[in-house]
Amino acid sequence: MTVRSLQHIALTVPDATVGKKFYSDFGLEARDDGRRVAMRCHGRDQDQVVLVEGNKKQMHHVCFGARAEGLVGLKARLEKNGTQLLDAPRETPADGLWFRDADGLLVNVRVAEPAPWAPAAEWKINNPGHLNRVGVPGHPPRGTAVRPRRLGHTLRFTPNLEQQLDFYTRVVGMRLSDRAQDIVAFLRSGEGGSDHHVLGFIKSDRPGYHHASFEVANVDEVGLGACRLLDKGYRNGWGFGRHVIGSNFFHYIRDPWGSLVEYFCDIDYIPDGPDWQPRNYPLEDSLYVWGPGVPDDFGRNFEEA
Ligand SMILES: [Fe+2]
Repeated sequence: MTVRSLQHIALTVPDATVGKKFYSDFGLEARDDGRRVAMRCHGRDQDQVVLVEGNKKQMHHVCFGARAEGLVGLKARLEKNGTQLLDAPRETPADGLWFRDADGLLVNVRVAEPAPWAPAAEWKINNPGHLNRVGVPGHPPRGTAVRPRRLGHTLRFTPNLEQQLDFYTRVVGMRLSDRAQDIVAFLRSGEGGSDHHVLGFIKSDRPGYHHASFEVANVDEVGLGACRLLDKGYRNGWGFGRHVIGSNFFHYIRDPWGSLVEYFCDIDYIPDGPDWQPRNYPLEDSLYVWGPGVPDDFGRNFEEA
């Protein structure tokens, strides 16, 4: 197994200035070198969303981290699979292996460790039988800055769900965590413990970018972050609620091009080892336990064919 972490996503957008404004409003910090804009989480020394300019919005590439010995095995599997190795794009030069997945998305796997992210204060809540916070108010100060700590995962539309799962597990070296029939599937890192998912796929008639998801400190920051984006005029995506697969609390907001960005907290974590058995959820009990009704366009692929 090869992939140990999701390092960043890169998006082609028609106007990087608009992207920079949106992700800054979302709570990320911009580093602009004139050719591309790299959005980072406060307190984390790692690009999370790289914006490059192009004709239409689409995912430019996805980047995963691996160990040096993992890249050797990956290169051999790519060659055996007949997957062509490519040069790094001029606009995002970087080491590692570059290739295209079963849908043609550019993938970079490089030798990299996930940079540490800023820990949050322990979330102390009172619930029946457990007084964990006594003598101090629990609500956050009104002016609390919502700064996502890290990129957690990304979800892609695909017309080739089985081919993508085969490619990312057998060739790239990730593990299937859970799925819901032939509609949705979630993958985690191939080595070590991992968030329940770092990459997911949802069925569509064509490839596309659905969302990227960022961890915040607690439920208050999921709510505060989403409300502030709505106050700034961005369109509601879906939330507040709690997912079934992965269990995370969520709120999604539409980006300026119709894709989504998600604030999350409390996602399931799967330890290394053989004990986790992937489940195949019934579709009607896979997406959320509670929350507002799913908007009609939540699963719509806004990317042009
Ligand atoms: Fe998500």
